[in-house]
Amino acid sequence: MPPLSRRKFIAGSSLALIAADAAPQPGLHARARARGLFYGSAVNDDTLTNDPAVLGRIKAECGVLVGEAQFKWGDLRPDAKTFDFTRADALLAFATKSGLRMRGHTLLWHEGNPAWLEKTLTPANAEKLLVDHIRGVVGHWKGKLMHWDVVNEVIDSDDKQPLNLRKTLWQQALGARMLDIAYHTTAETDPSALRVINDYGTDYTLAWQDRKRGAMLDLLADLLHRKVPVQAVGLQAHLDGGEVTLDQKVLAKFVADIASMGLKVIVTELDVRDQRLPADIPSRDETVAAHARAWLDAVLSNRAVLGVLSWGISDRNTWLNGQFARADKLPQRALPLDAALNRTKLWSAIAASIDAAPVR
Ligand code: XIL
Repeated sequence: MPPLSRRKFIAGSSLALIAADAAPQPGLHARARARGLFYGSAVNDDTLTNDPAVLGRIKAECGVLVGEAQFKWGDLRPDAKTFDFTRADALLAFATKSGLRMRGHTLLWHEGNPAWLEKTLTPANAEKLLVDHIRGVVGHWKGKLMHWDVVNEVIDSDDKQPLNLRKTLWQQALGARMLDIAYHTTAETDPSALRVINDYGTDYTLAWQDRKRGAMLDLLADLLHRKVPVQAVGLQAHLDGGEVTLDQKVLAKFVADIASMGLKVIVTELDVRDQRLPADIPSRDETVAAHARAWLDAVLSNRAVLGVLSWGISDRNTWLNGQFARADKLPQRALPLDAALNRTKLWSAIAASIDAAPVR
């Protein structure tokens, strides 16, 4: 049975079916590869264990995967002494079998942590806990992961901490040293994985995002000055299709400023929430696609950008319906495939933006 996306072009003729199958539109990763980029997606445990149809589409569209939760502390660390790699290893096995590469996400974050960590962490034991975790986790997959999001979401200037760091359990215990420890330990344990600092909220000319772009550039300058081995910035790109303050020049300048420091850039978690958009699907899809196209065009025009991952491949399974649910409770249309696994206008926008990117 051909996938739904092709079935709708068949129009009852088996000849048309053969023609459609003979010349399928290349997937996003194939198109990205032609520009020297990659395309990929986050995969969660539910999809991996229960949804072979989505896994099939992932193989058709992606070259890179990342665990939506499987590589976070909460999934890997039942207690302070034990590592449970079962779910993450299962995802890596699927990736390897399917010829896909994988990113690691993430080693230090203020969310996704086990309750025992929050209860146990003190200024006295924090360094050992962090070093042991990174040695254990990064070491387990040494040479097998292409990148590590070493730290995630460490900036929040509203918290009024030095270097605009977010006030978190790790920051309160170690201060900015958490970054030195995390990057040096990762570099020593697996020098081959590109070391990323990953964050959200640098997409628009909202006042807090203007501050956040500035804070990110200041933090990077400080880290590089102190020879902390960070190598790339992950732009999460959880976009808001209802936001009207996207300024391509500001965005392109931000990426250029990062690149001018000798750092790479990766779009790590692309999706477009549509909770502020009207219910009508064609107009929702149109706005979401145009929004993503504008954002991606500004970012992918810079050759320091290595590739794009979306936070899931299909609307069947997006975190947005939980945390950012629409008031009318309609499922969001935030990803390149809809819930029936048809390619959406957003898919076409991503494909077009990739096709238009300069070859690296
Ligand atoms: C989210 C997952 O999608 C959810 O399923 C989980 O419950 C919480 O984390 N930024 C990140 C990701 O860096 O790790 C988050 O993933 C989404 C926001």
